[in-house]
Amino acid sequence: MKTLMLFSTRDGQTREIAAYLCSQLSELDVETAMVDLNRTDNVDWTQYDRVIIGASIRYGHFHPALDRFVKKHAAALQAIPSAFFAVNLVARKPEKRSPQTNSYTRKFLLRSPWQPDACAVFAGALRYPRYGWFDRFMIRLIMKMTGGETDTSKEVVYTDWGQVADFAKEIVQLSHK
Ligand SMILES: Cc1cc2nc3c(=O)[nH]c(=O)nc-3n(C[C@H](O)[C@H](O)[C@H](O)COP(=O)(O)O)c2cc1C
Repeated sequence: MKTLMLFSTRDGQTREIAAYLCSQLSELDVETAMVDLNRTDNVDWTQYDRVIIGASIRYGHFHPALDRFVKKHAAALQAIPSAFFAVNLVARKPEKRSPQTNSYTRKFLLRSPWQPDACAVFAGALRYPRYGWFDRFMIRLIMKMTGGETDTSKEVVYTDWGQVADFAKEIVQLSHK
């Protein structure tokens, strides 16, 4: 039996975090399978004894595929040990990096039919050179308003990899239902 690692990404940071989580789980003798949530609809749940979902925020929202997936598979998600992690830039501030203090995550958990057994919020990446002009302009504006990086030549990864490794240890501890 494996752990299913589903991720929803736009620019790749959530995939990187998911891959790192899988590498940490592998060191803890947990076999994983990584699947892009935005490209999958059906899952053979008999293959998995644990599930993790990670998703990023863009303009205040997770990808709509996340809600669709959770709604469709709520019963299966609820039946096995499960974990959720959110990735966003608000979480670059440590005080906005918990499921309760990160508004995107708090709202998701409030309305989700699936209640994961473990939940984390990770800071994502800011990669100005890779954005189109509109996104670059908007993100710079948000960064200016919130006291963040405004130099558009920069790429900054805010992810705390130690926090991700700790989450892997927490996931391994989840007891079977
Ligand atoms: C166009 C755009 C909009 C974003 N909107 C938000 C936002 O509303 N709130 C936030 O905290 N982070 C926001 N971010 C930051 C992303 O969540 C962050 O870059 C994250 O690492 C993206 O993960 P991904 O590469 O897996 O999609 C935005 C990033 C981009 C490029």
